[in-house]
Amino acid sequence: MHEVHALAGSKPEQYAELHQQARGLFTGERDRIANAANLSALVYHALPSLNWVGFYFYDGNELVVGPFQGKPACVRIGLDRGVCGAAATTRRTQRIADVEAFPGHIPCDSASRSELVVPLYRGDELIGVFDLDSPEHDRFDTDDQAGLEAIAGIWLEASA
Ligand code: SME
Repeated sequence: MHEVHALAGSKPEQYAELHQQARGLFTGERDRIANAANLSALVYHALPSLNWVGFYFYDGNELVVGPFQGKPACVRIGLDRGVCGAAATTRRTQRIADVEAFPGHIPCDSASRSELVVPLYRGDELIGVFDLDSPEHDRFDTDDQAGLEAIAGIWLEASA
């Protein structure tokens, strides 16, 4: 069993600590579902003010929900839909301060106010997206974006 240790220090320091905890979880394990499940649990419990953290995987056609923490979510998201689709097609992290102002946002949990979605690519191959929702307006700043992009990279490297 892994403990989720309380994070301390500045935000970048907290993310550095979270990255170490993620590397620890992935040690000796390359199964992408196992690592996605444990990463979702780690991030959900380590960071404040989140109501959904998880993965959507690209099945060659659309995004299909993978391991997550939070309420049951929409299962399939077309690449032309939602914040997740935008992250996947633009290959850029979508940091949305107010989901209600995002055209095409797909509300899975009505508590969500802001959202950050990191695209997961291996070279030119779309693997999926890493999605975080918050009940707080404008929950994610640029430190969060950098920290969560890095953690997505750690997951990509660790997982087959
Ligand atoms: N809000 C996302 C859908 C996924 S849920 O937030 C878990 C979107 O607009 O793509």
